[in-house]
Amino acid sequence: MNDAALIHATITFVKQQLADAEGGHDWFHIQRVYNNALHIAETEPCNFTVVKLGALLHDIADSKFHNGDETVGPRMARKFLESNNVDKDIIEHVIAIIENISFKGGNTERSFSSKELEIVQDADRLDALGAIGIARAFNYGGFKNRALHDPNIAPNLNMSKEEYKKSTAPTLNHFYEKLLLLKNRMNTQTGKKIAEGRHIYMEGFLAQFYAEWDGEL
Ligand code: ADP
Ligand code: NI
Repeated sequence: MNDAALIHATITFVKQQLADAEGGHDWFHIQRVYNNALHIAETEPCNFTVVKLGALLHDIADSKFHNGDETVGPRMARKFLESNNVDKDIIEHVIAIIENISFKGGNTERSFSSKELEIVQDADRLDALGAIGIARAFNYGGFKNRALHDPNIAPNLNMSKEEYKKSTAPTLNHFYEKLLLLKNRMNTQTGKKIAEGRHIYMEGFLAQFYAEWDGEL
């Protein structure tokens, strides 16, 4: 199968897999990450096929929606790629991206690194920032029946990976626990620049949120 046909088949597979996904992790999230990744990839020497497949398959079975099981996504992606006779080296690289892309709190060491992982990770992080990032956070919070904000529950900046996953904190805390930290964790220059703009936008949102919360008219 040539590259274009493989990407086309992957898009069809991902759309089908994510048909019932939560709004922030649906096909349109994948489409945005794919577009972000292609944009960043223009400015970095990298393997485009790996970047494209990594972006398309990175959330094929997010552990958040599979009882915390982190092996479902990589397994599903491997099966798909093998059934399409993709080169072994490419399969291993794409699987490594899926296994290592996720934000795991501050102190977790990454076991794998590559330019292609850096690009797809930046592309995914950009979609957690800005207007879309705000929309996704509140959508996820609603999906989990979380409060919007509770001034009596302070953000926890020292959560372990397990605590982070189990957290039932109000959605606004997620901005301090994750979203506002992403700007300084970007891998590529292009990603960093876009993240800075989206970060400032979120700070403006938070200032307005607190003003309205406090009854300012
Ligand atoms: P990653 O895939 O990088 O691990 P997540 O899956 O945690 O990132 O986040 C994906 C999206 O879901 C982001 O837009 C993020 O803001 C949102 N999200 C994840 N956890 C929470 C949470 N506890 N509260 C609100 N939004 C969340
Ligand atoms: Ni994602």
